[in-house]
Amino acid sequence: MKRIVSGMRPTGKLHLGNYEGALKNWVKLQDQYQCFFFVADWHALTSDYADTSKIKENTLAMVTDWLAAGLDPNKCVIFAQSLVPQHAELHLIFSTLTPLGWLERVPTYKEMRENITDKDIGNYAFFGYPVLQAADICMYKADYVPVGKDQAAHIELTREIARRFNQFYGDVFPEPQALHTEVLQLTGLDGRKMSKSYNNTIELADAPDVIQAKVRKMITDRTRIKRTDPGHPEDCDVCKMHRLFAPAAVADQFDADCRGAGVGCVDRKRALADSLIEYLAPITERLNYYRDHQDEVRDILLEGSKKAQAEAERIMAEVRSAMKIDW
Ligand code: TRP
Repeated sequence: MKRIVSGMRPTGKLHLGNYEGALKNWVKLQDQYQCFFFVADWHALTSDYADTSKIKENTLAMVTDWLAAGLDPNKCVIFAQSLVPQHAELHLIFSTLTPLGWLERVPTYKEMRENITDKDIGNYAFFGYPVLQAADICMYKADYVPVGKDQAAHIELTREIARRFNQFYGDVFPEPQALHTEVLQLTGLDGRKMSKSYNNTIELADAPDVIQAKVRKMITDRTRIKRTDPGHPEDCDVCKMHRLFAPAAVADQFDADCRGAGVGCVDRKRALADSLIEYLAPITERLNYYRDHQDEVRDILLEGSKKAQAEAERIMAEVRSAMKIDW
């Protein structure tokens, strides 16, 4: 079976945009590939080294959401990067053969240096972030890496690092490929991209009444002032989101009634909230279970990390041997 590796920084509770954009795809992939999914907690450290107090808590919250979304520890390996120190060893080796120029050219680097002002990311590890990512991926000889388009340059760099390693020391690493699956880029409650930093999300953990309250505050078609005005569902975030989560026939009927002023925005919001609640129901159910069984979540993470370690050590032995630094 072909191998997949992917990771997420420990941001804590996940939202519907994270689910639609990545997690839902991971859940599918676990049936088709041998998958390694991990919490990139050392990556978080490269920019958030000054305050590490939330990392473990956020890691557990995120893994809880992964399990609720349907990741199954019997089908995939779920682990934390910091529990597999071999990543650090491979990172060091990769850092010796990565020219500075390659890192200076990574587009995300310049962009982040310009945009992040609330913390100092002029540190050594932040610059080397993509090298650590290359180590994460090569650590398991991944064939594919499911990531968003924003990560394309990092995967390209990983391929270059793998190639350079192979040139010096012989064929050890396959060149991994990015797997950019068509995913939904979800709009948030305020019309911007759904993102934790915009505070416009629906969390997987939101209770039905929270979802109802959040949806009630969404803005609909701005030109529809009175209930009797005909609406324009194509210009309405509520209508558009409803279409994503309701059966097409139901959305079609609502669109027609909206254009004819047969239904009001409040009705559509209620329908959207209902659709979301129903859509999330299986996740909510598992989430309730895992929230009450946090020890089990912790054990899954520790067990998965042991499995990852065994594989990582096997590959590190190959690396050391290829480099003639094995004893
Ligand atoms: N850089 C990725 C992100 O910010 C997270 C990540 C770290 C990752 N290591 C990885 C993703 C390895 C895929 C494979 O989203």
